[in-house]
Order: sequence, then structure tokens, then C-alpha cells
Amino acid sequence: MIPRDRLRIAVQKSGRLGDPSRDLLTRCGLKFRSSRDKLFCFGENMAVDLLLVRDDDIPGLIADGVCDLGVVGRNVLEEAGLGVTEASPFRELRALGFGGCRLSIAIPQEQEWQGPAQLAGQRIATTYPHLLADWLKRHDVDAQIVTLSGSVEIAPRLGTADLICDLVSSGATLAANQLQEAAVIMQSEAVLAGAAEAPRDERGDLLELLLRRLDGVLHVRESRLLMLKAPRIALEAITALLPGQPMPTVTPIEGRPDDIALQCVCSGNLSWQDLEAMKQAGAHNMLVLPVEMMLA
Ligand code: PRP
Ligand code: ZN
Repeated sequence: MIPRDRLRIAVQKSGRLGDPSRDLLTRCGLKFRSSRDKLFCFGENMAVDLLLVRDDDIPGLIADGVCDLGVVGRNVLEEAGLGVTEASPFRELRALGFGGCRLSIAIPQEQEWQGPAQLAGQRIATTYPHLLADWLKRHDVDAQIVTLSGSVEIAPRLGTADLICDLVSSGATLAANQLQEAAVIMQSEAVLAGAAEAPRDERGDLLELLLRRLDGVLHVRESRLLMLKAPRIALEAITALLPGQPMPTVTPIEGRPDDIALQCVCSGNLSWQDLEAMKQAGAHNMLVLPVEMMLA
């Protein structure tokens, strides 16, 4: 392996995680030359480059040291981790909060789900044989795993399997194939993955810097600035309704001694229900704004 002083991140070239992965890195302040039709994007303002690849190749690229990091589904990473005999060569560094889905057992719609025991002796089609085998073992079920490279959902209709174990996001694929979700094997989302051991040279410092920025970006993304007005006597009731118990800034309103203006940063998404409850408590002129940057 040729020594490298630039950090290299593998990102899905196309598909669900591709664009959000690149957006996230851009929000961390990274600028890349070259477009998505190229395989390699050179980092213009930091020594961090991107390699655009198929998601299933990302764990192997990290394990072989071709890339230092990868943005990949937790399901792909853990499947690859179970596929090696020695200890997993990967580490999940951060969960990224997008690309949420679950790996589930799905059975024909006309069947009734009574629990894992009914899978005994059945043929289950999947592209995640290791995760499935692990789950079957934990549930003490002896079933036959049919490993496919794709189009798992049509296997029951083709007669090559009795049921499937596949990713479910909206559920549209299952519905279109007359299948129903029966049991969730794992919850997945996009994660930042790295080698089990961080690089010890300059790349290690770059990784630290990137992780700090990433934490800031992830934190801000879940934050909302809430502004409202209310009668002073409603302040306590409204404060109790603020999600995450933030510390609100309360200011008087010129010429209206009985009213106050309140402002605070709420972490976690504010829902319409939250706003309606605050309105019930006396709040009005409510405004919720996304937060762009935060530095304490
Ligand atoms: C997954 C899965 C299903 C589909 C489910 O494939 O294999 O085909 O998504 O999504 P839905 O519940 O919203 O219909 P994905 O697009 O991730 O591609 P890949 O598995 O080939 O990488
Ligand atoms: Zn894939």
C-alpha cells in the first residue's frame, strides 16, 4: 500500500445515500472538484478526497485500507463485519440520521405471523445471509437461507424461496409484491464507518477535525429556534411544554407590561402538536426557524 497523507472517504455513487452523504460532507465545510459522474472527487480546501462507489464495496475498501472512512448503511457494514472470521475490521463512528430503514422478515400477505418458530424448515431469500443467520441462531430457528444478489422480493413468487429478509423503508416494495413485514431484524441508517484503528499520521488529525465538525452539523440539524409571545402568567406552563427543557430567553415587550416574548433553541423536532399545546397554554405569534450554525 502506497503511503497517503490525504484522508479518503468512500461514498455511495448513486442510490439512496449518495446525495445526502455528499450534502453532509459539504455542510462540514469540505469542497470538492469534479462531479458525480467521476469516481474520484478531489478535496479543494482540505486534504480529504471522495471515492464514489457501490455501497456494498465500501466495507471492503475500508478493510483493505484503500479508504479511511465510508458513509454506508449500518446493515451493509454489519453484514460485512459478520462475514470475516477475525474481529470486525470496522468501527461505526457516527450515526448520521438519514437513510433510515429496517432489515425485516417479510411473509406472504395471506399468511399469519405467529413468531420466529414458524420459520423452521422454510427457505428465506436475502442479500444479508450473515445478519439473517445470526438472528435465526439467536431465535433458535433452523431455516434454509437462500442468498441472492438482488430482487429478493420476487423470490416467493418465483418459487425459489418461501419468504424473504430484506430492507424495508416505505414498505412500497413489499406491498407491490404481496408481502407483509413480520419481524424487524435490525434498525438501520447511514453511518460514518472507519477502520477499527484510526490512522496514526496526519490523517488521524484530519479525522478528528472532521468528526468535530460533523458533531456540530448533526447537532444543528436537530435544532430549531422557537420564538413566541405570551401573557406573562402563562410563562411557566409554556416553559414546561418546551421539548428538551431548553433555557428560554424571556424579554419584556415595550408598552405591554403583561406580555413577554420568548426565544429558545429546542433540540429535536418541534411538532404541530407541541405548538398547539403551547397555544392552548396562551402562546401566540409562534415562529419556528431552522438553525444554520451554532458555536457556544
Ligand atoms: C431496498 C430493498 C427494497 C427497497 C425497499 O433496496 O432491497 O428493494 O429498498 O424500499 P421501500 O420499502 O421504500 O419500498 P435499495 O434501494 O436500498 O437498493 P439495494 O438494496 O440494491 O442497495
Ligand atoms: Zn446495494
